[in-house]
Amino acid sequence: MAIQSFLKECDFTPQQWLDYVNLAEQLKSEHYSGKEIQRLQGKSIALIFEKTSTRTRASFEIAAFQQGAHTTYLDTSVSQIGHKESLADTARVLSRMYDAIEFRGNKQSDLEQLARYAHVPVFNGLTDEWHPTQMLADALTIREHTHKDFTEVVHVYMGDARFNTGRSLLVSSAMLGMDVRIVAPKQYQPDDEAIRLAHDYAQETGARITITDDIAQGIKNADVISTDIWVSMGEPQQAWEERIKALLPYQVNEHIMNSTGKDTFFMHCLPAFHNTETTVGQEIYEKYNIPELEVTNDVFESSNSIVFDQAENRMHTIKSVMVTSLAS
Ligand code: CP
Ligand code: NVA
Repeated sequence: MAIQSFLKECDFTPQQWLDYVNLAEQLKSEHYSGKEIQRLQGKSIALIFEKTSTRTRASFEIAAFQQGAHTTYLDTSVSQIGHKESLADTARVLSRMYDAIEFRGNKQSDLEQLARYAHVPVFNGLTDEWHPTQMLADALTIREHTHKDFTEVVHVYMGDARFNTGRSLLVSSAMLGMDVRIVAPKQYQPDDEAIRLAHDYAQETGARITITDDIAQGIKNADVISTDIWVSMGEPQQAWEERIKALLPYQVNEHIMNSTGKDTFFMHCLPAFHNTETTVGQEIYEKYNIPELEVTNDVFESSNSIVFDQAENRMHTIKSVMVTSLAS
């Protein structure tokens, strides 16, 4: 049987993408009814993290545990990976011991190299280019809260749309047939490749694609407004100054949420800078005198904010990814 890796959205058809969401919904329901069937008994999964994580690591570990599988966490500080051993060699070693490998790192090309050398499925836990497991969680959360078919959903993304979350959100929303709007200043809009992929999928799914810097036009009738951090993991701290200048008008605040003409949900992959209660949040505040960045605290804490449901759904959807590849 062919190895089924999970590397990026565009490796899948819209139906396959939807199948992941539907299976996650089924697994979540089984879990809550106390009737979870362990489909991964005896399986073992290596989790490689070149970058830090709370949700993704926790989701892989707990989803695996609930399904009867074992995980081993490896980062560059406790393993040979990167500094003493290449990803190609690591892939071949871990393939002899594990049934699958998860990888979070910088370059998508590193992940693809790992997958080329591995003899087992490889799962993308985030690269600079794509964050596909996040997208499945976002889709499940949107379905649960809007109670709409994906093709009827208006999904707006505001902020830095050139990085993993923005690019993935554009393509995933197109795969699901949504009315997807990227609302960002020109220099923070997705690259041509991501836009082309979205348009290709839209031909098949009927998705409507808008890339604009016009906030009023972009947010009109939004069912959901999503955003992400303005300086991502691996980017230089000096980037903050320019990002704040360019992206502050695209901050998700009460004015934005009240200007959509609809009751709009707020989503964020997290972590979020919505107050000064983090080291980085405090540093930014001291330097630029801005206590809230991509989202204000009132929006983050509002009843329309569904970020913690979204975070929980990381676990159910990552379970769906592992079960799809590994269940016998
Ligand atoms: N959303 C997300 O990927 O969170 P972590 O960085 O905590 O895994
Ligand atoms: N764009 C963010 C996503 C974090 C989940 C980053 O790469 O840091």
